[in-house]
Amino acid sequence: MLHQDKVALITGAGSGIGRNTAYTLAAEGARIVVTDINQEGGQETVENIKSKGGDAFFIKNNVADWDDVQHMFRSAVDHYGRIDIAVNNAGIGSPDFAKTADKALEDWDRIIAVNQTGVFYCMKVELTHMLKQGGGCIINIASIAGIRGLPNASAYVASKHAVVGLTRTAAMEYAKRNIRVNALCPVFTPSGLFKPELYGEIADKLKAGIPMKRFSDVQEMADAINWLASDKASFVTGHALPVDGGLTA
Ligand SMILES: NC(=O)c1ccc[n+]([C@@H]2O[C@H](COP(=O)([O-])OP(=O)(O)OC[C@H]3O[C@@H](n4cnc5c(N)ncnc54)[C@H](O)[C@@H]3O)[C@@H](O)[C@H]2O)c1
Repeated sequence: MLHQDKVALITGAGSGIGRNTAYTLAAEGARIVVTDINQEGGQETVENIKSKGGDAFFIKNNVADWDDVQHMFRSAVDHYGRIDIAVNNAGIGSPDFAKTADKALEDWDRIIAVNQTGVFYCMKVELTHMLKQGGGCIINIASIAGIRGLPNASAYVASKHAVVGLTRTAAMEYAKRNIRVNALCPVFTPSGLFKPELYGEIADKLKAGIPMKRFSDVQEMADAINWLASDKASFVTGHALPVDGGLTA
């Protein structure tokens, strides 16, 4: 098993990519700290892991709240004693499809608070812990929007570029301290955040733009995260890995 005796903390693990990552890491032997702002979704993830013989527990958490993030991390370390793998996955999309000049200020603030500041808050506590512990591995979930522009999504694109920047910077800062930091850059993946059925013809156009001519699947994201989290990726750090059917090629 890839993660025997390891402990993994996953934010936003009550749905979509985070949930499937929790299942995948648990199947590889990791004990899982499931965190999410959505209590029902998070507890369901935990129950499903336990029903397959895995070990997991839930902490309700808002990644955009610094006190809450510190409390969440303390509770996780109190429970399992250590955190070896951290997947900073919690994120939100924007219903405000507007060009930059027309972007609502509230939309900007909301997206940056969760997608950018939330990842920074989590990295701050995780890195502090991993430095004391002597090592660890962080995977931040960015997006293809972290490595290219997307019209009408300036806040989301800015937040995901920031996640890639944070990833590269921390990777360089802690490379000698046995801490690897990488980012995953998913393309459109049906989930709680991206529901193709709500987009009509736009969804068809998005799909047509992907060289493989299909959307991704949450399991394809979980499999890439599983690899990045494992010792099989022992020399990979500071990387922003697109899993995008060739879109950014
Ligand atoms: N689905 C896609 O097409 C796609 C593409 C690129 C990147 N991503 C990124 O992947 C990550 C996971 O998204 P998903 O597609 O699985 O969406 P999802 O909505 O299915 O899951 C996101 C989870 O994050 C939780 N969350 C939201 N705000 C939170 C907060 N403030 N604190 C804690 N938890 C919070 C939600 O409750 C939810 O369970 C996000 O960072 C997203 O930006 C998704």
